[in-house]
Amino acid sequence: MTHPTAAEHPVYNYKVVRQFTIMTVVWGIVGMLVGVVIAAQLAFPALNFDSQWLHFGRLRPLHTNAVIFAFGGSALFATSFYVVQRTCQARLISDRLASFVFWGWQLVIVLAAITLPLGYTSSKEYAELEWPIDVLITVVWVAYAIVYFGTIARRKTSHIYVANWFFGAYIITIAVLHVINSLAIPVSLTKSYSIYPGTIDAMVQWWYGHNAVGFFLTAGFLGIMYYFVPKQAERPVYSYRLSIVHFWALIAIYMWAGPHHLHYTALPDWAQSLGMVMSLILLAPSWGGMINGLMTLSGAWHKLRTDPTLRFLIVSLSFYAMSTFEGPMMSIKTVNALSHYTDWTIGHVHSGALGWVAMVTIGAIYHLIPPLWGRKEMHSVALINTHFWLATIGTVLYIASLWVNGIMQGLMWRAYNDDGTLTYSFAESVAASYPGYIVRLIGGAMFFLGMVVMAWNTWKTVSPGAAPAAEPRVQPA
Ligand code: HEM
Ligand code: HEM
Repeated sequence: MTHPTAAEHPVYNYKVVRQFTIMTVVWGIVGMLVGVVIAAQLAFPALNFDSQWLHFGRLRPLHTNAVIFAFGGSALFATSFYVVQRTCQARLISDRLASFVFWGWQLVIVLAAITLPLGYTSSKEYAELEWPIDVLITVVWVAYAIVYFGTIARRKTSHIYVANWFFGAYIITIAVLHVINSLAIPVSLTKSYSIYPGTIDAMVQWWYGHNAVGFFLTAGFLGIMYYFVPKQAERPVYSYRLSIVHFWALIAIYMWAGPHHLHYTALPDWAQSLGMVMSLILLAPSWGGMINGLMTLSGAWHKLRTDPTLRFLIVSLSFYAMSTFEGPMMSIKTVNALSHYTDWTIGHVHSGALGWVAMVTIGAIYHLIPPLWGRKEMHSVALINTHFWLATIGTVLYIASLWVNGIMQGLMWRAYNDDGTLTYSFAESVAASYPGYIVRLIGGAMFFLGMVVMAWNTWKTVSPGAAPAAEPRVQPA
């Protein structure tokens, strides 16, 4: 018999939260498995199997879409729907619309998984999906916004908790970014051309791309941080005032940093410099938020020794600090002249993606699962700990190997002989990168293995046979 709280909750809509929670774990496994496959292909190209469907060029966007929008997206839907209900003390305004958001988003993911390996692409990074899917995304997103903001409007609390500010900013901004960057002229059901010409297209694309990082992979996950770190630590957020300054500074500055993706291109030089300066300034709000999260643990640091879920949340903030220090450095034009096109960028991406996004998600999901299914705690805390070490060591191996590769590639490509000829051929730099690719593969495989451990632990916790808790954890909002 299932525990009463696992059935329909009398006050809140937990069904949609449970659905997105499970899909976070499922898509995490799928997306990261594809990540491991393409990491293996870079070390062993024969793994392309001479098949156009399994080729690196087609699997790579499948990986990025699966981890960002399927795994990260499901985590954001689950947590935002949970947090908005708890902090507003109000049920989602419509169960039907919430259900439409769930099934609509799953349809988007399935369509992406079919069309990308078939080679249908707009060729815009992180916005590869063709126009019919873009239209579907817009419809689902509008439904999401209606449910989310409608619930805020019917709140029973006087103020809006800061986590909702971040979720709200991410929902509005992603809508604007998606619609403007995806504007295209369709020539068939599966092909369209961007309405923007040349350099303007590049500028719009990287305004989108950078803010997808800033609002999808950062603001949304900061919403998670502001709710789940205080909850898991059982401490109030360190400074409410800092959180407000953090919010306005972050959203005001992120918007201007996109041109750092287009250094030394046809983009006007002043725009590149503006992007660089704004990226440098971005260090301040990023670290302000990170400090606010870390300092929430004041007086509770000892909990890290026994609580691996809290460890996930806190270590994610350390990686957030690292990647938001590294990013501004890489945006300096002279540094970017070395780092751009190299594995350093990929290492930076994954210190943010694995260390920050995935780790904070995993921590939040471990926190969420027991109350959602009416259990006292996860089936095995020891397995959460195993997962924590696999994820942490995996991330470190991933990013450290690519720092070495990236800096080595950058230096090899710019090395000249006295007579002005290149010291190394490109192929020599690829051969020199091989050991780094093996270490990255090992690190990525460890991270993936951790997700498998999580899936097992989740199954043992939520399956009907699992023992219900005598007293399910009741959380004050
Ligand atoms: C098991 C874990 C993972 C592995 C093994 C992995 C592996 C890879 C590989 C091999 C690439 C292509 C690199 C290249 O072109 O040289 C890549 C790209 C990428 N991955 Fe992952 N990945 C993992 C997890 C994630 C997660 C969780 C996220 C996001 C939340 C993510 C986001 C990205 C992005 C955005 C890119 C494109 C980077 C760029 O274009 O600069 N990855 N990944
Ligand atoms: C203050 C914060 C940050 C700044 C200023 C920043 C800056 C940069 C710079 C300069 C690049 C290299 C651009 C190039 O050479 O092409 C880059 C790439 C990237 N960063 Fe960051 N970064 C920041 C934080 C993050 C975080 C937290 C994440 C992930 C969660 C992230 C994800 C990415 C991705 C996905 C790319 C690769 C884009 C592509 O070329 O496909 N960044 N970032």
